[in-house]
Amino acid sequence: MSDQQQNQLWGGRFSESTDAFVQEFTASVGFDRRMYRQDIQGSQAHATMLAEAGVLTDDERDAIVQGLDEIRAEIEAGEFQWSVALEDVHMNIEARLTDKIGITGKKLHTGRSRNDQVATDIRLWLRDEIALIDGEMTRLMTGLLDLAEREAATIMPGFTHLQTAQPVTFGHHLLAWFEMLKRDRERLRDCRKRVNRMPLGAAALAGTTYPIIRERTCELLGFDGVCENSLDAVSDRDFAIEFCALTALCVTHLSRISEELVLWTSAQFNFIDLPDRFCTGSSIMPQKKNPDVPELVRGKTGRVNGHLIALLTLMKSQPLAYNKDNQEDKEPLYDAVDTLAGCLRAFADMIPALEPNREVMREAARRGFATATDLADYLVRKGIAFRDSHEIVGKAVAHGVDQKKDLSDMSLSELRQFSDQIDEDVFEVLTLEGSVSARNHIGGTAPDQVRAAVARGRDAISG
Ligand code: ARG
Repeated sequence: MSDQQQNQLWGGRFSESTDAFVQEFTASVGFDRRMYRQDIQGSQAHATMLAEAGVLTDDERDAIVQGLDEIRAEIEAGEFQWSVALEDVHMNIEARLTDKIGITGKKLHTGRSRNDQVATDIRLWLRDEIALIDGEMTRLMTGLLDLAEREAATIMPGFTHLQTAQPVTFGHHLLAWFEMLKRDRERLRDCRKRVNRMPLGAAALAGTTYPIIRERTCELLGFDGVCENSLDAVSDRDFAIEFCALTALCVTHLSRISEELVLWTSAQFNFIDLPDRFCTGSSIMPQKKNPDVPELVRGKTGRVNGHLIALLTLMKSQPLAYNKDNQEDKEPLYDAVDTLAGCLRAFADMIPALEPNREVMREAARRGFATATDLADYLVRKGIAFRDSHEIVGKAVAHGVDQKKDLSDMSLSELRQFSDQIDEDVFEVLTLEGSVSARNHIGGTAPDQVRAAVARGRDAISG
């Protein structure tokens, strides 16, 4: 890299060239080149606006727009020479433009600074990524609804404290996952509103003396509005922090789901099978089939939580307006985006392929005295106070544990030892089907409620 190239864009007041290590250390082109498309998009809109404002001629605008189109093609063909001496994506592209079209290239930066340029690029980039992530989230949510519909009447034990609590339907359990993701998608869409504001025009920090038309650039770039204050526009990265926060929550949800999948695929639970294509084997233990995808997703939580903390810490002590600290916003944000997109994609592919072992699930619910609450509720309907019925059923369960018998396996006379209020009709409530069907209200586990919730979920998804 020649010194001449190094000083081309800001070297006017410098009398010696940058230390070679400092140049490497302060450069961001190694990672921010990822935003080359948005950088070009922003520059083309800026040049178009400058021509309309009379700051550039139409010919100058055309040369800039076309030159940038060619640069985009060079980058995509792998022919572009990225230079660390030119520090970042912005100056690399601008310098190349000047190489190509001469002095007109040097006019592109009129009324603009890299400070509002980079803030604009990140927002455009994140907006594009949000659209892709939204699509993957929706695909996963659709898969959950389809599976929940299929498994609306499949019985499994519901857990509290990871101990068998009450029977639920597998469809109902899947819809709990769906609700988590529905809120994640709401948060994503809400975040997009604040991402989609345009900093361009703030220039370095105070605005510019040129007669720029921010509304026009805003329209060209599809932003919902401009950032209202130039100092705030170039300095705050709260939108990136917000994105990392919703990412941390979403990956936390995926991690909780993963934990259940890992448990359920174990030989001890054996509730579900994961197709081989989502698993790997062990190099030493021939019998192993490991649920790597959910395990890895569970593990990814750590890094996205880290990115959230990194960005919060990055921001916390920065005085207005732009500081070089902000260059550190990109790598955590990029990785948060990649991690979330990857986890969602893996899940969207995997969820429709889950194979429930319905008999095993059902048997697990049967063995765990899962209908004990139903018996207590039955006695309440017969006029016994709930605390007393709780005590009665507790004794019946103790007897069952002793005799290795579920409540539904006991005879009527056996059950009547604990309360003479128990009659023949008790067996209707002691069955697993009776138990889940009785919870027949909105948000309950009854198969009919699951089907109704799936229908509502489909409406919510298309919204
Ligand atoms: N590479 C820089 C960043 O990512 C671009 C803005 C630099 N602005 C400046 N005044 N040095 O934040």
